[in-house]
Amino acid sequence: MKADGLIVEIDGVSRTFPGMDRAALDGVDLSLRRGECVVISGANGSGKSVLMHLIAGLDRPSRGSVRVARGPDGGETRIGLVFQDASAQILGDTVLEDAEFGPKNLGANPREAERRAREALARAGLSGKEYLPARTLSGGEKRRLAVAGILAMDAEIVILDEPYANLDWPGVVQVNEVVASLRTGGKTVVVLTHELEKVLALAGRLVVLYEGRVAFDGAPDEALASAPLESWGIRNPLGSYTRAADLVWAPRPQEAEIR
Ligand SMILES: Nc1ncnc2c1ncn2[C@@H]1O[C@H](COP(=O)(O)OP(=O)(O)OP(=O)(O)O)[C@@H](O)[C@H]1O
Ligand SMILES: [Mg+2]
Repeated sequence: MKADGLIVEIDGVSRTFPGMDRAALDGVDLSLRRGECVVISGANGSGKSVLMHLIAGLDRPSRGSVRVARGPDGGETRIGLVFQDASAQILGDTVLEDAEFGPKNLGANPREAERRAREALARAGLSGKEYLPARTLSGGEKRRLAVAGILAMDAEIVILDEPYANLDWPGVVQVNEVVASLRTGGKTVVVLTHELEKVLALAGRLVVLYEGRVAFDGAPDEALASAPLESWGIRNPLGSYTRAADLVWAPRPQEAEIR
Protein backbone atom coordinates (compact mmCIF):
# COMPACT_ATOMS: atom_id res chain seq x y z
CA MET A 1 0.00 0.00 0.00
CA LYS A 2 1.34 3.37 -0.99
CA ALA A 3 -0.34 5.38 1.72
CA ASP A 4 -1.14 4.56 5.33
CA GLY A 5 -4.72 3.98 6.24
CA LEU A 6 -5.75 2.56 2.89
CA ILE A 7 -7.37 -0.84 3.01
CA VAL A 8 -8.26 -1.21 -0.69
CA GLU A 9 -6.44 0.34 -3.64
CA ILE A 10 -7.89 0.04 -7.12
CA ASP A 11 -5.61 1.39 -9.84
CA GLY A 12 -6.61 1.83 -13.46
CA VAL A 13 -8.97 -1.13 -13.38
CA SER A 14 -10.89 -2.21 -16.44
CA ARG A 15 -13.02 -5.31 -16.85
CA THR A 16 -14.31 -6.33 -20.23
CA PHE A 17 -16.64 -9.18 -21.08
CA PRO A 18 -16.94 -10.82 -24.48
CA GLY A 19 -19.80 -9.43 -26.52
CA MET A 20 -20.18 -6.17 -24.60
CA ASP A 21 -19.82 -3.02 -26.70
CA ARG A 22 -18.14 -1.16 -23.81
CA ALA A 23 -16.08 -2.19 -20.82
CA ALA A 24 -18.09 -3.08 -17.70
CA LEU A 25 -15.44 -1.11 -15.79
CA ASP A 26 -13.23 1.35 -17.60
CA GLY A 27 -10.13 2.85 -15.97
CA VAL A 28 -11.43 2.92 -12.41
CA ASP A 29 -9.20 4.43 -9.70
CA LEU A 30 -10.59 4.13 -6.20
CA SER A 31 -9.12 3.85 -2.72
CA LEU A 32 -10.93 2.87 0.43
CA ARG A 33 -9.66 4.03 3.79
CA ARG A 34 -9.81 1.75 6.79
CA GLY A 35 -12.98 2.37 8.77
CA GLU A 36 -14.82 4.52 6.25
CA CYS A 37 -18.40 4.03 5.14
CA VAL A 38 -18.86 4.57 1.41
CA VAL A 39 -21.95 4.42 -0.74
CA ILE A 40 -21.23 3.38 -4.32
CA SER A 41 -24.13 4.28 -6.54
CA GLY A 42 -24.95 4.11 -10.22
CA ALA A 43 -27.71 3.04 -12.57
CA ASN A 44 -28.39 -0.58 -13.53
CA GLY A 45 -25.40 -1.91 -15.46
CA SER A 46 -23.02 0.85 -14.28
CA GLY A 47 -20.57 -1.70 -12.87
CA LYS A 48 -21.28 -1.81 -9.13
CA SER A 49 -21.50 -5.59 -8.77
CA VAL A 50 -18.54 -6.18 -11.09
CA LEU A 51 -16.51 -3.85 -8.87
CA MET A 52 -17.60 -5.71 -5.74
CA HIS A 53 -16.50 -9.04 -7.22
CA LEU A 54 -13.08 -7.56 -8.02
CA ILE A 55 -12.59 -6.13 -4.52
CA ALA A 56 -13.57 -9.48 -3.00
CA GLY A 57 -11.14 -11.35 -5.25
CA LEU A 58 -13.94 -13.36 -6.88
CA ASP A 59 -12.98 -12.00 -10.30
CA ARG A 60 -9.87 -10.49 -11.84
CA PRO A 61 -9.53 -7.22 -13.74
CA SER A 62 -8.73 -7.30 -17.47
CA ARG A 63 -6.35 -4.39 -16.81
CA GLY A 64 -5.05 -2.60 -13.73
CA SER A 65 -4.70 -3.80 -10.16
CA VAL A 66 -6.79 -4.36 -7.05
CA ARG A 67 -4.89 -4.53 -3.79
CA VAL A 68 -6.26 -5.28 -0.34
CA ALA A 69 -4.04 -4.44 2.65
CA ARG A 70 -3.11 -7.21 5.07
CA GLY A 71 -4.47 -7.17 8.59
CA PRO A 72 -2.44 -5.88 11.57
CA ASP A 73 -1.31 -9.46 12.30
CA GLY A 74 -0.12 -9.86 8.71
CA GLY A 75 -2.99 -12.18 7.87
CA GLU A 76 -5.45 -11.78 5.04
CA THR A 77 -8.11 -9.15 5.49
CA ARG A 78 -11.51 -10.82 5.69
CA ILE A 79 -14.09 -9.44 3.32
CA GLY A 80 -17.76 -10.16 3.96
CA LEU A 81 -20.20 -9.89 1.09
CA VAL A 82 -23.93 -9.69 0.96
CA PHE A 83 -24.80 -10.57 -2.61
CA GLN A 84 -27.52 -8.87 -4.58
CA ASP A 85 -29.20 -12.29 -4.89
CA ALA A 86 -29.23 -13.36 -1.23
CA SER A 87 -30.71 -16.79 -1.92
CA ALA A 88 -27.58 -17.72 -3.90
CA GLN A 89 -25.65 -17.25 -0.67
CA ILE A 90 -27.43 -19.79 1.51
CA LEU A 91 -25.20 -22.71 2.47
CA GLY A 92 -26.76 -24.23 5.57
CA ASP A 93 -29.93 -26.27 5.97
CA THR A 94 -31.28 -24.34 8.92
CA VAL A 95 -30.94 -20.64 9.65
CA LEU A 96 -28.58 -21.38 12.55
CA GLU A 97 -26.40 -23.76 10.52
CA ASP A 98 -26.16 -21.19 7.79
CA ALA A 99 -24.97 -18.46 10.17
CA GLU A 100 -22.48 -20.91 11.76
CA PHE A 101 -20.87 -21.62 8.42
CA GLY A 102 -18.50 -18.61 8.46
CA PRO A 103 -17.09 -19.05 11.98
CA LYS A 104 -16.72 -22.83 11.49
CA ASN A 105 -14.88 -22.22 8.25
CA LEU A 106 -12.52 -19.91 10.11
CA GLY A 107 -11.74 -22.63 12.64
CA ALA A 108 -14.05 -21.75 15.55
CA ASN A 109 -15.08 -24.74 17.69
CA PRO A 110 -18.77 -25.75 17.51
CA ARG A 111 -19.77 -23.99 20.75
CA GLU A 112 -18.05 -20.76 19.79
CA ALA A 113 -19.47 -20.93 16.24
CA GLU A 114 -22.97 -21.37 17.66
CA ARG A 115 -22.53 -18.49 20.10
CA ARG A 116 -21.34 -16.15 17.35
CA ALA A 117 -24.09 -17.29 14.98
CA ARG A 118 -26.85 -16.73 17.56
CA GLU A 119 -25.54 -13.28 18.42
CA ALA A 120 -25.33 -12.36 14.72
CA LEU A 121 -28.85 -13.65 14.06
CA ALA A 122 -30.15 -11.49 16.90
CA ARG A 123 -28.41 -8.41 15.49
CA ALA A 124 -29.93 -9.13 12.08
CA GLY A 125 -33.43 -9.53 13.54
CA LEU A 126 -33.75 -13.29 13.06
CA SER A 127 -34.01 -14.48 16.66
CA GLY A 128 -36.63 -17.20 16.94
CA LYS A 129 -36.04 -18.45 13.41
CA GLU A 130 -32.89 -20.46 14.20
CA TYR A 131 -34.35 -23.86 13.38
CA LEU A 132 -36.34 -22.96 10.26
CA PRO A 133 -35.11 -24.32 6.94
CA ALA A 134 -33.09 -21.42 5.50
CA ARG A 135 -34.55 -21.87 2.03
CA THR A 136 -38.07 -21.18 3.26
CA LEU A 137 -37.26 -17.67 4.51
CA SER A 138 -38.79 -14.74 2.66
CA GLY A 139 -36.60 -12.70 0.30
CA GLY A 140 -36.04 -10.00 2.92
CA GLU A 141 -35.27 -12.58 5.63
CA LYS A 142 -32.74 -14.27 3.35
CA ARG A 143 -30.95 -10.96 3.02
CA ARG A 144 -30.94 -10.57 6.80
CA LEU A 145 -29.49 -14.07 7.03
CA ALA A 146 -26.70 -13.07 4.65
CA VAL A 147 -26.04 -10.04 6.87
CA ALA A 148 -25.95 -12.34 9.93
CA GLY A 149 -23.42 -14.54 8.12
CA ILE A 150 -20.96 -11.69 7.66
CA LEU A 151 -21.48 -10.49 11.23
CA ALA A 152 -20.72 -13.98 12.52
CA MET A 153 -17.47 -14.16 10.57
CA ASP A 154 -16.40 -10.72 11.85
CA ALA A 155 -15.21 -9.40 8.50
CA GLU A 156 -12.98 -6.33 8.36
CA ILE A 157 -14.48 -5.06 5.10
CA VAL A 158 -18.20 -5.51 4.55
CA ILE A 159 -19.73 -4.97 1.13
CA LEU A 160 -23.50 -4.99 0.77
CA ASP A 161 -24.79 -5.18 -2.81
CA GLU A 162 -28.26 -3.61 -3.13
CA PRO A 163 -29.09 -4.52 0.48
CA TYR A 164 -32.47 -2.76 0.42
CA ALA A 165 -33.96 -4.49 -2.61
CA ASN A 166 -37.25 -6.12 -1.55
CA LEU A 167 -36.88 -5.09 2.08
CA ASP A 168 -39.82 -3.61 3.93
CA TRP A 169 -39.44 -0.55 6.15
CA PRO A 170 -38.39 -2.46 9.31
CA GLY A 171 -35.99 -4.49 7.17
CA VAL A 172 -34.32 -1.34 5.81
CA VAL A 173 -34.04 0.07 9.32
CA GLN A 174 -32.50 -3.17 10.55
CA VAL A 175 -29.90 -3.26 7.77
CA ASN A 176 -29.05 0.35 8.55
CA GLU A 177 -28.65 -0.45 12.24
CA VAL A 178 -26.14 -3.10 11.26
CA VAL A 179 -24.36 -0.68 8.90
CA ALA A 180 -24.17 1.93 11.68
CA SER A 181 -22.85 -0.55 14.23
CA LEU A 182 -20.23 -1.89 11.80
CA ARG A 183 -19.13 1.69 11.22
CA THR A 184 -18.94 2.38 14.95
CA GLY A 185 -16.94 -0.81 15.36
CA GLY A 186 -14.32 0.56 12.93
CA LYS A 187 -15.14 -1.74 10.03
CA THR A 188 -14.87 -0.57 6.43
CA VAL A 189 -18.36 -0.63 4.97
CA VAL A 190 -19.34 -0.31 1.31
CA VAL A 191 -22.99 -0.12 0.34
CA LEU A 192 -23.75 -0.52 -3.35
CA THR A 193 -27.12 0.98 -4.11
CA HIS A 194 -29.02 3.38 -6.29
CA GLU A 195 -31.41 4.10 -3.39
CA LEU A 196 -29.54 7.03 -1.89
CA GLU A 197 -32.44 8.15 0.27
CA LYS A 198 -32.22 4.98 2.35
CA VAL A 199 -28.62 5.25 3.51
CA LEU A 200 -26.66 8.31 2.44
CA ALA A 201 -26.66 9.91 5.91
CA LEU A 202 -24.57 6.99 7.17
CA ALA A 203 -21.87 7.50 4.54
CA GLY A 204 -18.95 9.86 4.68
CA ARG A 205 -18.42 9.56 0.96
CA LEU A 206 -20.36 8.90 -2.22
CA VAL A 207 -18.94 7.36 -5.36
CA VAL A 208 -21.04 7.31 -8.53
CA LEU A 209 -20.31 4.92 -11.37
CA TYR A 210 -21.60 5.79 -14.82
CA GLU A 211 -21.10 3.32 -17.65
CA GLY A 212 -18.16 1.74 -15.88
CA ARG A 213 -16.34 4.96 -14.96
CA VAL A 214 -16.14 6.96 -11.76
CA ALA A 215 -18.34 9.98 -12.45
CA PHE A 216 -18.23 11.38 -8.89
CA ASP A 217 -16.18 10.70 -5.78
CA GLY A 218 -16.68 13.09 -2.90
CA ALA A 219 -18.89 14.43 -0.18
CA PRO A 220 -22.55 13.36 -0.24
CA ASP A 221 -23.74 16.95 0.33
CA GLU A 222 -21.73 18.19 -2.61
CA ALA A 223 -23.23 15.50 -4.84
CA LEU A 224 -26.78 16.35 -3.82
CA ALA A 225 -26.23 20.09 -4.19
CA SER A 226 -24.42 20.29 -7.47
CA ALA A 227 -23.71 16.99 -9.25
CA PRO A 228 -25.85 16.00 -12.25
CA LEU A 229 -27.00 12.80 -10.53
CA GLU A 230 -30.00 12.29 -12.76
CA SER A 231 -27.91 12.41 -15.93
CA TRP A 232 -26.02 9.47 -14.39
CA GLY A 233 -29.28 7.63 -13.88
CA ILE A 234 -29.70 8.17 -10.13
CA ARG A 235 -32.59 10.08 -8.64
CA ASN A 236 -31.60 12.99 -6.43
CA PRO A 237 -33.68 12.28 -3.34
CA LEU A 238 -33.73 15.88 -2.12
CA GLY A 239 -37.17 16.82 -3.31
CA SER A 240 -40.34 17.52 -1.45
CA TYR A 241 -43.34 15.27 -1.20
CA THR A 242 -46.35 17.16 0.06
CA ARG A 243 -49.31 15.58 -1.74
CA ALA A 244 -50.24 12.44 -3.61
CA ALA A 245 -49.59 14.17 -6.95
CA ASP A 246 -45.87 14.41 -6.01
CA LEU A 247 -45.63 10.66 -5.59
CA VAL A 248 -44.51 9.50 -8.99
CA TRP A 249 -41.03 8.86 -10.27
CA ALA A 250 -40.94 10.78 -13.54
CA PRO A 251 -38.50 13.29 -15.07
CA ARG A 252 -38.62 16.58 -13.15
CA PRO A 253 -40.13 19.49 -15.16
CA GLN A 254 -36.78 21.16 -15.86
CA GLU A 255 -35.34 17.82 -16.97
CA ALA A 256 -38.30 17.13 -19.25
CA GLU A 257 -37.78 20.55 -20.91
CA ILE A 258 -34.15 19.71 -21.70
CA ARG A 259 -35.15 16.48 -23.46
N1 LIG B 1 -20.22 -12.34 -16.19
C1 LIG B 1 -20.57 -11.39 -17.05
N2 LIG B 1 -20.57 -11.63 -18.38
C2 LIG B 1 -20.90 -10.68 -19.26
N3 LIG B 1 -21.27 -9.43 -18.92
C3 LIG B 1 -21.29 -9.14 -17.61
C4 LIG B 1 -20.95 -10.09 -16.61
N4 LIG B 1 -21.05 -9.50 -15.39
C5 LIG B 1 -21.47 -8.24 -15.63
N5 LIG B 1 -21.61 -8.01 -16.96
C6 LIG B 1 -22.03 -6.76 -17.56
O1 LIG B 1 -21.33 -5.69 -16.95
C7 LIG B 1 -22.16 -4.55 -16.79
C8 LIG B 1 -22.11 -4.08 -15.37
O2 LIG B 1 -22.79 -5.06 -14.58
P1 LIG B 1 -23.01 -4.93 -13.02
O3 LIG B 1 -23.68 -6.18 -12.61
O4 LIG B 1 -21.75 -4.57 -12.35
O5 LIG B 1 -24.02 -3.69 -12.94
P2 LIG B 1 -24.64 -3.05 -11.63
O6 LIG B 1 -24.19 -1.64 -11.55
O7 LIG B 1 -24.37 -3.92 -10.47
O8 LIG B 1 -26.20 -3.06 -12.02
P3 LIG B 1 -27.52 -3.34 -11.10
O9 LIG B 1 -27.90 -2.01 -10.51
O10 LIG B 1 -28.52 -3.79 -12.11
O11 LIG B 1 -27.19 -4.39 -10.10
C9 LIG B 1 -23.54 -4.96 -17.26
O12 LIG B 1 -23.80 -4.42 -18.53
C10 LIG B 1 -23.49 -6.47 -17.29
O13 LIG B 1 -24.28 -7.00 -18.32
MG1 LIG C 1 -25.53 -5.03 -9.24
